[in-house]
Formats: sequence, C-alpha cells, structure tokens
Amino acid sequence: MSLKSIVLAAGKGTRMKSKLPKVLHEILDKPMLDYVLDRCLELSNERPIVIVGHQGEMVAKHLEGRAQIAEQKEQLGTGHAVMMGIDLIADDDDVLIVCGDTPLLTAQTLKAMEELKQSSDAVVLSAKVSDSFGYGRIIRNGEDFIKIVEEKDATIEQKKIDEINAGTYMISAKLLKRELANLKAENSQKEYYLTDVFEQVAKDGRVRIYTADSEEILGINNRVQLAEAADIMKKRINRELMMQGVTIIDENNTYIDPEVVIGSDTVIYPNTRIKGKTVIGESCIIRENTTIEDCLISDKVEIRSSTLLQAEVGSHTTVGPYAYLRPKSKIGQHCKIGDFVEVKNANFGDYSKASHLSYIGDADVGKHVNIGCGVVFVNYDGTNKHRSVVGDCSFIGSNSNLVAPVRVGELGFVAAGSTVTKDVPEGALMVARNKEYIKEGWTERKGLIKKK
Ligand code: UD1
Ligand code: CA
Repeated sequence: MSLKSIVLAAGKGTRMKSKLPKVLHEILDKPMLDYVLDRCLELSNERPIVIVGHQGEMVAKHLEGRAQIAEQKEQLGTGHAVMMGIDLIADDDDVLIVCGDTPLLTAQTLKAMEELKQSSDAVVLSAKVSDSFGYGRIIRNGEDFIKIVEEKDATIEQKKIDEINAGTYMISAKLLKRELANLKAENSQKEYYLTDVFEQVAKDGRVRIYTADSEEILGINNRVQLAEAADIMKKRINRELMMQGVTIIDENNTYIDPEVVIGSDTVIYPNTRIKGKTVIGESCIIRENTTIEDCLISDKVEIRSSTLLQAEVGSHTTVGPYAYLRPKSKIGQHCKIGDFVEVKNANFGDYSKASHLSYIGDADVGKHVNIGCGVVFVNYDGTNKHRSVVGDCSFIGSNSNLVAPVRVGELGFVAAGSTVTKDVPEGALMVARNKEYIKEGWTERKGLIKKK
C-alpha cells in the first residue's frame, strides 16, 4: 500500500483573466502548482497524478515528468476530474486529493490528516472562515462527518455554517473507486460532485474532519487572492529565516523565494529581492535595493544596492553600491567590486579590486590586481566575443581599455589612459597613449581665452 496524490488542475480559472493557466501563476517566482506538488512529495515519493484540462498541454509541459498526467476533456465537476485519474491507482492505495490552486497548504496539516486516516476510511479538510460564501459547507453531527452541501444547493440555514470544505481529502482507493462509480450529476450545477463520495462513505464507514487554519486553505481564483497568498507566503518564508537566525529589518519589504538558503547572523535590509536557488552564507550584510538571483554568496560578504545574477562571490568581499554582476561572474575572497562596476563571464581573483566605473567582461583577472577607475575590457569586435587575461599583482591604470584578446603578465603595469592591444609581458610597463606635448602661451596667442 502506498499514498498516491491526485491534484485537480483542469479548471479554467476564468477569473484570472489570463492567457496563462491559473495553476502556473507564480508566488515568489514559483508556480502555485509546484507548491502543491512539493507538499504531495513530502508525504509520498510516488509521482502525483495531475488532472489537466484547460491549456492542459502547457501544464503538462511545465510538469515534464514530475507527475503523471491525466486529461479531463470536459470539466464536468470535481468528481468527474478524479475519475480521469483513478485507473492509475491501485485498489489497496490511499489517495490524497488536493486542488492545484491551494498553494498555502502545509506539510503539517497533510501529516495530521494522514494520522487521522489511520483510524478512518476518509478524512476531509475543513476550516472556519469569516466569509463562507461560495464554499461547500460541512454538515456534521458532533465529531461525525455527515456531508458537504454546495453553496448553490444549500438551504438558508446551511448557508450560515462557517465551517467550509477546503477541497483536500484522504480516502482509501477502494472506497473512492466504489463511490465514483455510483456518482450522479443530480444537483443544481449538473456536475459530478466529489463531495458526494464522502457522504456515501460516511453512511457505512468512518469519515473524520481535520480543521486547518483558514489562511492555509485559501484557494486562488483571481489576482487579488494571488497577491494575498503571495503576502502570506512571503511572511512565512521571512519568519522561518528569522527563526533560523537571519535578521530581516523590514519583513514586509523583503521578498525571498522559497528555495533560498541564508546563513545565521546575516542581515537583510529593506527592498531586497532574493530569488531562485540563491545561497547566502553567514554574517553577510545585504543592504537596501539589492536583487540577487541564483547566486552563491559566501560568508561575511557585504552587498549594497546591487544586482547579482547567477554569480559567485567569495567571503569578505564587498559589492556595490550599484554594481551589476551578470551570469558566470566568479568573484574571489576579500575583493572589492565598487560602484558602477559591471562584471560578466569573468573570474576575479582573491584580494583584487575594481573600485569604480569599470566593465569587466569575458576575463580572467588574477589575485591582488588593481583595476583602476573607468577601465573597460573591450570584449566584443562586433562579431565575436574575446577573452582577456590579467595576471596576479598587476595594475591597470584608470581609464584604460584592454582590447581582447589580450594578456597582461604578472606584475604588469598599464599606464592610465592606455588602449592596450598587445600583450604586456610579466613585470613590464605598458604606456599605450599619445605622447603629451606643451605649447607655451598657446591659448592667448589664439585669442581663445583672455585674461580678465
Ligand atoms: C469545490 C468543492 C467545495 C469546496 C471548494 C473548495 C465540489 C463539488 N465542491 O468547489 O465543496 O468548498 O471546492 O475550493 O467539489 N476542477 C477540475 N475539473 C472540474 C472541476 C474542477 O479539475 O471539472 C478543479 C479546479 O481546477 C480546481 C478544483 O477542481 O482546482 C476545485 O474546483 P472549483 O470549481 O474551484 O471548486 P467548486 O466545485 O466550486
Ligand atoms: Ca472554487
């Protein structure tokens, strides 16, 4: 026996008013469906079955082997949707049924349901909400589950019930199969209601109710609810990081993706966006207005108001303000990448510095190198990109251009304002600029500037 999950994701999601299928809308860079899938996989390593319908190809493509796909061509109700996947389930399995649009469900809740399932035939997840309009209401007799009544089928009295059906269930496959076979679309919506299955099971078996926090069961139907869910998720992630020892100065204005890892004693200032699979070490300072995506940041790094994409930064290095580290930038330890410095596809050795206004593209810069203000690595000839190499302990004077491919040897010295097109040998000075000359009294003779 194993636990199989069925995720319902065939609905149209009309109220999103979107070309994108509802379940692919993102919360902190992750499609809501993926949150649901992750929760299923925490409970069971069996591949979940996802029921797709509207724009099903897009959803299936997104899932790419992570789930089994069953198609529901016509949306004839939640019961009908489950029927589409039921043949993929063995009789002695247990089944978890969830909706693809409830990304806030927690593993704790599903585990608690699993626990209750051990001593029952089925478990229904409920929540008490302040506005139950639109939901199915739970009809119970004390502890005993009786049935669920949909809004459109409910009496005035039933509509007053504030305990609603969250749309998440666990049930023995055998009973699910038995009752799906008996389902009829005899209700106001002419739909096959999955909820009827539990009413039938409760007649000669035991159906239990687990009540979750109302926040957790929020189903997303429109973009207002999407924003609400994103806000809750953001808070959860930030709180968890804080409990792990990260200081977050303003949790409302700090946006951290669910898979980001951050070490203790790191301080995150407001208006920061930390995305993707970023890992940040311990005791770092991430100052205001920074965006970091898919980066590997070591310990004791300070980043100010900068953008870092798919870059690596070694320990004790400082970045910014206003630096831009683009993909495949690998910055060593104890480095300085100062203001308005852009780095792309470059290795930058330990203890090296580029303090101001440089472009370092397609380069291998050694250790203890000083890149002066305004140095440009001229990497592009209009057709191809070329690489430059700058040896250890060399010095590139301000406002120089290194026209790639070019190589500066160890301890090389490029004079300020040089345009370097030839290799600089080890330990050599390169001056690559026009000779200066002076003409005394020139301006006055020309009448350009007069003494006042
Ligand atoms: C359903 C429940 C209701 C519950 C609510 C929670 C039924 C009959 N009612 O309401 O008691 O309070 O969920 O949100 O089950 N779907 C399909 N195929 C279909 C119909 C729906 O895949 O033919 C999917 C939708 O994509 C969605 C989920 O099932 O993910 C729920 O569908 P929705 O229409 O929102 O739920 P209701 O039937 O209104
Ligand atoms: Ca609904």
